[in-house]
Amino acid sequence: MLFSPIKISNLEIPNRIVVAPMCQYSAVDGVMTDWHTQHLMQLGYSGAGLVMIEATAVERIGRITHHCVGLYNDFCKKSLKETLQKAKSVATSTTTFGIQLAHAGRKASTQRPWEGRKSLTEEQDPWSTISASSIPFDDHWHIPHSMTKKDIERVKMKFVQAAIMSMEIGFDLIEIHGTHGYLLHQFLSSISNKRTDEYGGSLENRMRFPLEVFSDVKAALPEGFPLGMRITGTEWEQDGINESEALIFAQNLQKIGCHYLCVSSGGNTPNPKIPIGPHYQVHLATIMKKNTDMVIRAVGMITDPVNADKLLLRQEADMIAMARAFLSNPRWVWDAAKVLKYDIPVPPQYARRL
Ligand SMILES: Cc1cc2nc3c(=O)[nH]c(=O)nc-3n(C[C@H](O)[C@H](O)[C@H](O)COP(=O)(O)O)c2cc1C
Repeated sequence: MLFSPIKISNLEIPNRIVVAPMCQYSAVDGVMTDWHTQHLMQLGYSGAGLVMIEATAVERIGRITHHCVGLYNDFCKKSLKETLQKAKSVATSTTTFGIQLAHAGRKASTQRPWEGRKSLTEEQDPWSTISASSIPFDDHWHIPHSMTKKDIERVKMKFVQAAIMSMEIGFDLIEIHGTHGYLLHQFLSSISNKRTDEYGGSLENRMRFPLEVFSDVKAALPEGFPLGMRITGTEWEQDGINESEALIFAQNLQKIGCHYLCVSSGGNTPNPKIPIGPHYQVHLATIMKKNTDMVIRAVGMITDPVNADKLLLRQEADMIAMARAFLSNPRWVWDAAKVLKYDIPVPPQYARRL
């Protein structure tokens, strides 16, 4: 199963293995650098059927850090296009590439993980952040501005503009980042959304902004262009998004033409109680798989090829994404093919590997 092809809308993907989006915090004012070139070239020939490019901010204030990739001007667009072309030049012709479009909302203007991951201090050139409500992520984090209707319209337009640029650059697929506590997630969750207008309160109202972003992007792309969302299966909190709210959101996404979901969790609160362990989020993907008709991607500590293959065979998900496994072993797919006795093309330069 792991090495069987799959379609997302009209996109043929040669196998079920996805490189999960991974921020590299190595850009300069939204523009990719040599670090991204080597990172994405290496992952380009990894053998994964789909390589996702990291969370890419649709506007400058939507970056998590000063060093996040963006797609909000021609410099960003040019760098993404050149990097994608380089990655494609070493990948097999069937490898597909997707981009994750994001807005960090109240989790913007922070330090890189290796610099502390806290809000930028006055000396670190911070910027004002926005969110559904004026509630900070944690103590000592920036207090975001509650978005006005004008902000809401602007951010929707920014997602649309970034999606059009992504298509022009040559990406095969677009993913909207709807989880990990970033802006769309902040609207969906009653923990971070205390609005009293039509964008807050009931689940129907809290879903409104993420669904509007999705449908505006969808309407701007050619018919059938592969488009999905990364969503929150649960926030692992008493009063947060749980499995049933997540499913209702997923079903609404399906109604408006969502082709696939990647089901993740948490990220909107500082200390969620997550039962971390192998496959700890797979059951959340399975809920979506059983109750929707979209292509469903599972993610989270999936590292063993035999177990990954089994979860697909048991129809718990349609695809698997991996992040950290690819950081420790960019040849994971080649090794998995050996374990599962499957023949896959590798670059001829490396054909004599052991
Ligand atoms: C270095 C790093 C950067 C990440 N950046 C992103 C990102 O840009 N977008 C996103 O949705 N998830 C991001 N994640 C989360 C991963 O995509 C993935 O969901 C998570 O690491 C769990 O999968 P794993 O156990 O295979 O690593 C990142 C994870 C890592 C380790």
